Amino acid sequence: MKKHTILAVDDDRTNLQIIRSVLEKDYALQLAISGEMALKFIERNRPDLILLDLMMPGMDGRETMAKLRQIPGCETVPVVFLTANQETAEEIQCLNMGASDFINKPIIPGILELRLRRILELDDLQHHLQTAVEEKTRQYQELALESIFAIVNIIEAKDEITEGHSVRVAGYSRALATAMGYDEKSVDEVYRAGLLHDVGKTGIPDLILKKEGKLTREEYGEIKEHTSIGGHILAAIETMDYLAEGAKYHHERYDGTGYPNGLAGEDIPEIGRIIAVADVFDALVSKRHYKEAMDVETAKAELLKGAGSQFDPAIVKIFIELMENGTIEEIRQASGAGH
Ligand SMILES: [Fe+2]
Repeated sequence: MKKHTILAVDDDRTNLQIIRSVLEKDYALQLAISGEMALKFIERNRPDLILLDLMMPGMDGRETMAKLRQIPGCETVPVVFLTANQETAEEIQCLNMGASDFINKPIIPGILELRLRRILELDDLQHHLQTAVEEKTRQYQELALESIFAIVNIIEAKDEITEGHSVRVAGYSRALATAMGYDEKSVDEVYRAGLLHDVGKTGIPDLILKKEGKLTREEYGEIKEHTSIGGHILAAIETMDYLAEGAKYHHERYDGTGYPNGLAGEDIPEIGRIIAVADVFDALVSKRHYKEAMDVETAKAELLKGAGSQFDPAIVKIFIELMENGTIEEIRQASGAGH
């Protein structure tokens, strides 16, 4: 195993010599006789632990510590103070500043050795744990997204003419959320909900879903059920409750005449209002069993016409901006433009 690097800082050369004799066998040791010299060293090499004399002429230990904490990569390096001062107040101050420990002078070799070893072991353990948690989190995120895409495949296997619809709606919804100032995590949630908004269609009979020509009132009623069915399917994923919200509320209308609950305005969860705009835009510019694809300019006019009645006008406004700056077209091309 690679030796840990310890930087020892003390203006007293005799002390540095004692430190060297105790530590040089087990550690890569760097010695500095002032705070200024220590900071220069730290700029070039990040030590695993810093042993820092509290009382030094010029820059003292506390000032050196405050400065080294500003150096990138040194925010959490363990610092152990060397102090001749036995006053408790001083020691409390050191610990409050984030020091890992303090060692009283005169230095007792056995204590110095054991204390530093213990601190380095704890620090290593903490780093390992942190890395392990980050790795697990990454794996979990990946698994979540892979599972979502498996469900998208189920949706698309059911109705091949809407191929790419889920991915495009998710892409538009993500662009909207980003432009609306959502943080990274929330943007991701909107994206995932967009991917699964139509999962309820898997519960609708093919005869109705793929019917060419006009639907009867009863058949249309059944199609509408895909929102509640989707909400029900996704309610099982409790840790991502926004998925069910997106599926359930993406056909609510701003004026309260939508389904399944007839919610109006801000009562409709925002994730539903976002997906609604993205969904309708994609449906308009795509070919369906019952209609040809509409051109983008006409679709834009349709969205504007629906602002305030079908859609949240603020969200339509942002969508139009995204159309005008080319974002929507970019997503459309990247995720397979509708037929
Ligand atoms: Fe839908």
